[in-house]
Amino acid sequence: MNRESWKEKVVYQIFPRSFQDSNGDGNGDLQGIISRLDYIQSIGVDTIWLSPVYESPRVDQGYDVANQREIDPMMGTMADWEQLLQQTQSRGMDLWMDLVLNHTSDQHRWFQQARDSKDSPYRDYYIWRKGEKDGEPPNNWTSYLGGSAWTYEESTDEYYLHLYNKKQPDLNWDNPKVREEIQDMVRYWIDKGVNGFRLDAINVISKDSNLPDTKESKMEGSGYKHFKNGPNVHEYLRELNEKAFSTKEGIITVGEASMVSMEDVAKYTDPDRRELDMIFMMESPSIGTDPDDSFKSRDWKLTELKEIVTRWEKELLNIGWFGLFASNHDHPRMVSSFGNDGKYRVESAKMLATLVHTLWGTPFIYQGEEIGMTNYPFESIEQLDDQMALHYYKARTERGEDPQGVERRVLAGTRDHARTPMQWDESPQAGFTTGEPWMPVNDNHREINVAAQQDDPASILNYYRQLIKLRREHADVIVHGEYAILLEDHEQVFAYVRRNDERQGLVLLNFSDQDAEFELPEDIGVCLDSAYRALGNYEPEYGKDADQVPHRLRPYEAIVFGGLQPAPQK
Ligand code: NOJ
Repeated sequence: MNRESWKEKVVYQIFPRSFQDSNGDGNGDLQGIISRLDYIQSIGVDTIWLSPVYESPRVDQGYDVANQREIDPMMGTMADWEQLLQQTQSRGMDLWMDLVLNHTSDQHRWFQQARDSKDSPYRDYYIWRKGEKDGEPPNNWTSYLGGSAWTYEESTDEYYLHLYNKKQPDLNWDNPKVREEIQDMVRYWIDKGVNGFRLDAINVISKDSNLPDTKESKMEGSGYKHFKNGPNVHEYLRELNEKAFSTKEGIITVGEASMVSMEDVAKYTDPDRRELDMIFMMESPSIGTDPDDSFKSRDWKLTELKEIVTRWEKELLNIGWFGLFASNHDHPRMVSSFGNDGKYRVESAKMLATLVHTLWGTPFIYQGEEIGMTNYPFESIEQLDDQMALHYYKARTERGEDPQGVERRVLAGTRDHARTPMQWDESPQAGFTTGEPWMPVNDNHREINVAAQQDDPASILNYYRQLIKLRREHADVIVHGEYAILLEDHEQVFAYVRRNDERQGLVLLNFSDQDAEFELPEDIGVCLDSAYRALGNYEPEYGKDADQVPHRLRPYEAIVFGGLQPAPQK
C-alpha cells in the first residue's frame, strides 16, 4: 500500500478578499489572514490554499491575473506575503498558491503587447485567428460566460480566443515560449518557498489546433470536446512537472479539471507519469446542477451521489489520487445546497463534513464551511458581483426570457453565496472589517460565527476539529485504506466500510430530513459486535448502547464506528 504522508493532508481554502480585512477598506487582505492563522491552525488543518492574490483588475475576482509575480495592492505587499508564508510555515502548516495558467487578464503586459501588432514577440502567446468570410468568428465555440468564445480586434483584423471573459484571453500553450515563461514563473514561487499549487482550469490548456466547429448548441461553454483534456495536455503537464514542480522536493499539486473520465484522472495523477498529484472530484459537488446550464438546478438522488463517489474511490485506488470537497468559491454554500440550512443546519453540516473527511482522497475545507455558513438571501441582480451570474442574466433576458424567472435562478445559483464575508463574531460587520464590506455580510452572523462556536463542544467547528483528529489518528484506515459501499440502493442512507488488512471502520450517514431505517447485509465481511462509536453528530439515543450499530438514523445523523473485526471465515 502506498502510504505517502502528503496524502494525509487536510487543506483549508481561503478566498482572500472575503476572509479578513486589516485596514478597514472593506476588502480582505494578507495581514488579515496573518491575524487569523492561529484560528486556522486550531481547526487542525495542515495546509492553506490561497485563491489568487496576484495583481488583477478583478473582473473574475483574481482569476484574471495581470502579473503572476506581484501581489495585488488590494491584498498588501510582497513583504506581507513573505510574512504570511513565514508565519504559516512556522506554525507547521504549508502554503499553496493558485496558478491560473489557461489565461491571463487582458491587462497583462503580454496581452497588451500582443494585441495591436501581429509582429509583436508576444502575439503568439495567445490564440489569434482570422474570422470566417461572412464576418463570423473563427468557430462556433461559446465561452463559459455565454456568447462567442472569440473577440474581434479591429487593429489587426483578427479574433482572439477566450474560454472565459473576453478580458481573460487564453494562452497559447502550443508556443514553447509560453510554456517556458510559465515554468519560470512557477519556479519563482517555488524559490520563494511555497509548498504547493492549485492549478486553475488545468485540463483546458491544450486546444485542438484545427479549432473545429462544435455540433453542440449550448449557450455557454460549448466546444469542450476540442479543448477538455486536449491533445497535448499530458505532455505539457509532464514538462511543467519536470521543469518546475519537481525542481524541489515535496511540492504538491492539485488540478481543477471538470469533465474528466476515470481514465483521465488516472493519467493526470498516476505517480509514474509525473504530472499532478491530484485532481479535484468535481463531479459530486456539481450533482445538483444541469450539465447544460449551470444556473438550472436538477433533482438528484442519493444513489447517484453514491455511484459517483464509489466509482472514484474504487477505480482510482492504488492508481491515482484526488481532492474531495463539498464547497468552494465557485458553488453556493454546501449546507444550503446539499444539506438543510434551516432546522437541521448543524446536523446536516456535520453529516456532509463526515462524508468528505472519511473518504479516500484529500479533504478540502472552504472558509466558513467549518461554522456552517449558509447562502446569502440575495434579492436582486444588482447585489451581485459574480460575472458568470451577470452574463447569464444578460444573455437570457436579451433572448427574451422572463427576467424574473432568470433572476430567480441566478440568485439561487450565484457563486457570490460563497463570497460573502467570513463571519467571525456577532459585531455589525461580523468582525470582517471596520469599514464597508465589498460584499454584504449575512445577517445570520449574529448566530453563525466563529466566536460563538470556539468553545461550544457541540458546535460545527468543534466537530470539524474532532473529525480531522480522527482522520489523523486512523490514517492507516481512513486515508490509506480501501472503501466498500453498503446499501447501494438505499435512497436515504450512505453507508460504507473503510478497511485495511487489520482494521476496519464503518460510516453511516442519513442524507434526509426524515428518520431512515436500514438493515445492513450480513455478508459485509466485518463483525459488528466489536464496534465502538468513534464520532457522531447526535447524542447517542437514550437507553441504547452507543457502541451498537443501529438500524435507524435520525435526520441527517452521521456516525463513525471503529474497531470492527473481520468476520470469521465460514
Ligand atoms: C475556475 C475558478 O475556480 C473560477 O473561480 C474562475 O472563474 C475560472 N476557473 C476561470 O479562471
